[in-house]
Amino acid sequence: MEKDIKILAIESSCDETAAAVVVNGRQVLSNIIASQIDIHKKFGGVVPEVASRKHIEAISAVVQEALDSAKLSLQDIDAVGVTYGPGLVGALLVGLQYAKGLAYAIDKPLIGVNHIEGHISANFIQYKELEPPFVCLVVSGGHTFIVYMKDYGDFEVMGETRDDAAGEAYDKVARAIGLGYPGGPKIDKLAKEGNDEAIKFPRANFHDDSSLDFSFSGVKSAVLNYLNNMKMKDEKINKADVAASFQKAVVDFLVDNAIKACKIKRVDKIAVAGGVASNSCLRNTLIKEGEKVGVKVLFPEPILCTDNAAMIGSAAYFELLKGRTASLDLNAIPNLKLGER
Ligand code: KG4
Ligand code: ZN
Repeated sequence: MEKDIKILAIESSCDETAAAVVVNGRQVLSNIIASQIDIHKKFGGVVPEVASRKHIEAISAVVQEALDSAKLSLQDIDAVGVTYGPGLVGALLVGLQYAKGLAYAIDKPLIGVNHIEGHISANFIQYKELEPPFVCLVVSGGHTFIVYMKDYGDFEVMGETRDDAAGEAYDKVARAIGLGYPGGPKIDKLAKEGNDEAIKFPRANFHDDSSLDFSFSGVKSAVLNYLNNMKMKDEKINKADVAASFQKAVVDFLVDNAIKACKIKRVDKIAVAGGVASNSCLRNTLIKEGEKVGVKVLFPEPILCTDNAAMIGSAAYFELLKGRTASLDLNAIPNLKLGER
């Protein structure tokens, strides 16, 4: 039997300082997340400078806790995986420099991981038998992609947003109706009490039926205009109806393109990844539409959807199998593209 490979992984691309130990890319021994949400809430969004400082304060303790709860010491670790982009440069650098220091100290390989590839990999943890090829819908606060995953670490971007990411649109609409940050989960909850057909918010039209791209700034502006109009007319706003109608516009767009992508690639499974993958309406609608065309829909559990290091440990393992390790001069790349090495 081959030796198990234990990867210590670190994630600090945005407002979560996270560390995890993952065995053979699929088995999570520990998954520690220190969230800064309460700090950034006051500002209505992530403040990059504050995020970097908080990562510095948290990282040693978070890594130690990941090792402790895995009941391992640094000497037991076979490689160190770390997110090196995309993300906030100051935030990325904290995790990256820490990971380099550890890899150097234990004389083990360093593996640079693309944050988005990490989100996709969360599905390998959730579904132990899952193997490429499959289509993946990536929906996070900063990114929205439809990706065809041909093989481990081998991606084809089939569609992406031309403006706002899905999570970003949720957060902006939530702020406009006074729900606070992060808005996605709050809209998800409020929408359950609303009528999703109360207001017709338009979907972007690219005049090209074959495009799998998205655009969410139009629907966001339509919500803002609706709110302004109602205020000017002094009419009462039903926030639950706004949340439900906005959510329907976003989810229908995501689901339509995701199903189209499965048909194009003739695959029978679609994995969903990123913070918005926790959305209950997206989950229910995609499962329902998938059933109609024989496509199985996969979602990681919520703790693996949001930013975490276990997903980075999984992606790092498959990179290591391909021999893709990094040297100690690896730099943070804030706008790292999917599939770029
Ligand atoms: O993947 P993630 O944790 O961080 C990024 O890499 O961006 O995603 C965070 C995003 C936020 O925009 C948040 O509002 C959204 O995911 N989100 C949700 C839900 N839970 C988190 N959006 C809609 N419904 C949810 N239940
Ligand atoms: Zn993320």
